[in-house]
Order: sequence, then C-alpha cells, then structure tokens
Amino acid sequence: MAKREVWNSKTAFVLAAIGSAIGLGNIWRFPYVTFENGGGAFLVAYFVCLFIAGIPLLMLEFSIGHMTKQAAPGAFAKLRPKMQWFGWFAVGVGFVIVTYYAIIMSWSVNYTWEAATLGWQDNMGQYANVEYALETTELEDMAVLTPVPERFWGTEFTDPVDESLYSIQSTGTFLVAWEGNLYAISSLGNADTFMSSPGDFFFNDFLGLTSEPWDMGTFRWPLLIGFIITWVWIVASVWKGTKTVSKVVFYTVFIPWGLLILFIIRGVTLPGAEAGISYYLTPVWSKLLNADIWLAAISQVFFSLSVGFAIMIAYGSFLPKKTNIAGFAIVIGIADALTAFCGGLAVFSALGYQATKMGVHITEVAQSGPGLAFVAYPHIISNLPGARIFGVLFFLMLLTLAVDSAFSLLEAATASVKDKWKLSHKKANLIVGGLCFLLGLPMLTGSGLYILDIADHFMNSFGLTIVVLVETIMIGWVIGAEKQRDYISDNSSFRIGQWWSICIRWLIPIGIIWMLFTEISARETPYGSFGLRSQEFLFGWLIMILLPIVSDLLANAKGKGKFPENIE
Ligand code: TRP
Repeated sequence: MAKREVWNSKTAFVLAAIGSAIGLGNIWRFPYVTFENGGGAFLVAYFVCLFIAGIPLLMLEFSIGHMTKQAAPGAFAKLRPKMQWFGWFAVGVGFVIVTYYAIIMSWSVNYTWEAATLGWQDNMGQYANVEYALETTELEDMAVLTPVPERFWGTEFTDPVDESLYSIQSTGTFLVAWEGNLYAISSLGNADTFMSSPGDFFFNDFLGLTSEPWDMGTFRWPLLIGFIITWVWIVASVWKGTKTVSKVVFYTVFIPWGLLILFIIRGVTLPGAEAGISYYLTPVWSKLLNADIWLAAISQVFFSLSVGFAIMIAYGSFLPKKTNIAGFAIVIGIADALTAFCGGLAVFSALGYQATKMGVHITEVAQSGPGLAFVAYPHIISNLPGARIFGVLFFLMLLTLAVDSAFSLLEAATASVKDKWKLSHKKANLIVGGLCFLLGLPMLTGSGLYILDIADHFMNSFGLTIVVLVETIMIGWVIGAEKQRDYISDNSSFRIGQWWSICIRWLIPIGIIWMLFTEISARETPYGSFGLRSQEFLFGWLIMILLPIVSDLLANAKGKGKFPENIE
C-alpha cells in the first residue's frame, strides 16, 4: 500500500485545520449565541471553555490521529478493536452536520446573487405608494413613523403585515418609511411587527417556509442551483486529497480574513456602532452564575473547533513524524477564537448602528440563528452606500469561510472509507459527497428549515458531546491520560503540564455529563424560535438511534487492506 499521504508543509496543515475550525460557526453562530447569552459574560465563559476543553481536546484528537496513522474508525480500532464502531459514529455525526451545513452554504450562494441584484428587497416596496413617498414627508431611509397628512385621509391601502385592505384614518394609520419606501400601516402594533421582522423575503419568498414541520410545502428549485454549486465546489476542493487541500486552504483562509477586516472597519465606523459594541463587550458578571451560559459556551467551543467530528483525528493522521502537536493546537484554538471575536465585532457594530437609527434597543433588531446572517445583516448593509458590493462580499466571505469546514469533514469521511476499503480517493469522495447531497435534498423543501434546526440541535447537544465524552473516558481512564500526555509532549516542541490530564479525566467529562442531563430534561418543553414540540423531536431521536446502528454495520462490514482488524 502506498505511503500515507502527508501535508506538504506545516503551514498547509495549520491552515487546513484553521480552515476547518473557522466557519459559519464563527460568523453567525458565535454572534447570536453571544447575543442570547448576555454579551460580555458569555465571552468570558467562552474563553474559559476554550482553554479548559477546546485546546486540550484538539491536542487529544491530533495525537490520536498521529499515533495511529488512521482516520477515526481505524484509530479507535487500533486503540481497542471493539471500538471501531465508535470511530464511525464520530464520522456519522460530522456527516449529518455537513449535510445541513451545505444547505446554509447553498443559501449563501443564492444570496450572493440576491445581493448583486438586491433581490431580497423584492417583496418590499410592493405596498408602497410612490405618491405618498414623494409628497408627504422628507424621507429618511430608515423607519420613521409619521402622521398622515389630511389630504390622504380616506385613501385605500394594503397593510403589509396582515395584507388586508384599509382606508387611511386621521389617527390609527401610520406611515413608515423603510429602506427608501413608504408604507401605510393600519396600527401601531402592525408597525412594530413590520419593522422588527424584515425576514419576509428570507422565510417566505426564499425558503417558502411552511407553517409547521409536517407540511413539506413545495420543492424550492432555485435553491437546488446553489446546492449543486456548493457540492461541486466542496468535492473539487478535496479532489486530490491533501495536495488539493493545501492549495485551496491558502485562499479560503486568507480571503475571508481580509474581508472580515473590511467589515470590521465598515462596522465600527458606522454611527451608533458603540451601542452594539458596548452590549457585546460589557460583562454582567452575575450572569456567569447561570448554567445556561456555560452550556452554550462549551458546545460553541466544540462546534467551532471541529472537535468531536472525527475531523481533527483524520487531519492529525496526515501529520509527518516530526511535528508539534501541542503548539499547533494552541495556535489553531486561538486563531479560531479571535476570528469569532472579530466576527462578533463586525456584526454587533452593525446591529448597534441599526438600533440607533431605528431608535430601538439592540435586542429588537437582531434575530437569532440563520436570521442574523440572512435577515438582519442583509437589511443593514442594503442601507449603506455600496450595498451591492458589501452584500456580495459578505456572502463570499461566508462561503469561503464555510467551504473548508465542509470539505474537512469530507476528508475525514473519505479517509475512513479509504482506510477500510482501499477505494481510490476520487471514488471515495464521490460516494461520500453524493450521499450527503442526496440526504440534503429534503432540506430544499418548505419544511427544510425545521429539519435543519432539529438536526443542528441534536447533533450539537448530543452528537458532539457524546463523542467527546467517550473520547475523554477512553483516553483519560482506559488508555491512561498520563501516557497520552507523554506522547503529546514527545511530539511537541515543549512539554505539557499535568493540567492537561486533569482537564481530560475530570473537568471535561463532568461538564459534559451535567450538560447532557440538563439538555435531556430541557427537551420536555418546546424549543427554539419555532417552538418545536416533542413530536418533532422524534426525528432528532431517530437520527441519534440510527447513527450507532449504522456505525456498527460499517464496523462489522468486511474491509480490505491495511485496516487494523485485518492485520491483527
Ligand atoms: N468548525 C466549523 C464552524 O465553526 C463547523 C464545523 C466543524 C463543520 N466541522 C464541520 C461544518 C464539519 C461542517 C462539517 O463553522
């Protein structure tokens, strides 16, 4: 068998791992999780979790890969032959994540186009009566409530919120100037709804979101185009393994960093930005007593650093003999955290600007989750001079950020399949990529966002955490944390202290067990912005049950070549 491929250079490895870590998690997930968990206090919790859990786990996963020279399934099989299934389980968790991650990427592909044409404003303005706009008030480009001049009383109009016909009253009708258009709105309540939900285009026109998860609505053909482009791009990026990856990461790490700097500068120089930044950076210390913050912080750290996905094990297995495991882990962990921090800065300053212009509190501008990147942010930038350019660059930034996270998982899965069945790299790529593509198709329907949301929730709360829990127990207690610590130190430019073993044996597993309990009990109540209920969680639990079954089947399938089970 050919020698295992290795990275062209140290830089290639570090960039590839950084590329995998930095992704949508840094630009939309991090800001909104921070936002929901009280700004500054969350930042503190996040950095604590980074040092206690994130970086030690990176060292752990790199060292497992380096030591066994195998992707996750082979690596676990080498440690304990019975544990092969668990390696597949880790691959499976990443596999589920990449199927919906690619969906978010495909939205970004479509939105790059929408940004160029300002398409997301299409459904705005249809209620506007240009006559009013010209004759009534001096319009600002932001929401302003004005009384209606007398000569318009009695005129009919359609309220953009409830879409029914009203006639203008002396009082009780409001004119709202929004993004250069004027809307007549029938009540103050509707005016509020209107201004705080600019998500119409995204949810209705773009996603065609149905009113409940069991209703699939229609298949969104335009989304398919973005989806195909996304998958071709992902598969092409890993076409020749580490060779292609080494080249691609160079662009996909530096381009988004450059763009991010641009957005920070644009953001912080906007009037009103301070409002957002101070919300972001001022810790309310008492909030640190709240368990939720810590749970949110630790799962964000796992997701963002790509630990618990089998990815870093595969990447570690491509490391040359002489290497610097601990040093790399620290550099990668810090680079990822700083990028998230900067992403937060860009987003929060823009939110501050919007809040100040609308004269509302910052909590009323932002929508969490996908809404932040696809609703609030687009609307803010479409008010800036050069809206199209900023819009296009923003989505290009998201895409270049996301693509190396996505292909890192493909690499991990492909390497596992290759190790076991000795397929050619290209074949393995097509099989894995093709499967993810097919599984993603249902998410292009009107209930796609619900499916995505549930999968995301279950994989983050249960998938990643279970993988990490088993890893820490296996290395910390079965194999021996001290033994592994020696291995890491021997393969690093400095020795790591005993703190590492304490984190792996005690802090991380205890933290996770506590977190799992909290999560399971919290699932009795509806969750998320859609108020998803228990029936819908069946789908989530189904994935959680299927994963180990499939993993076991894969582990027992007959392999070929140098896979551990065949040598032993
Ligand atoms: N770390 C990535 C982020 O912050 C997320 C991620 C990790 C991911 N592994 C992945 C996404 C595998 C898709 C597939 O965005």
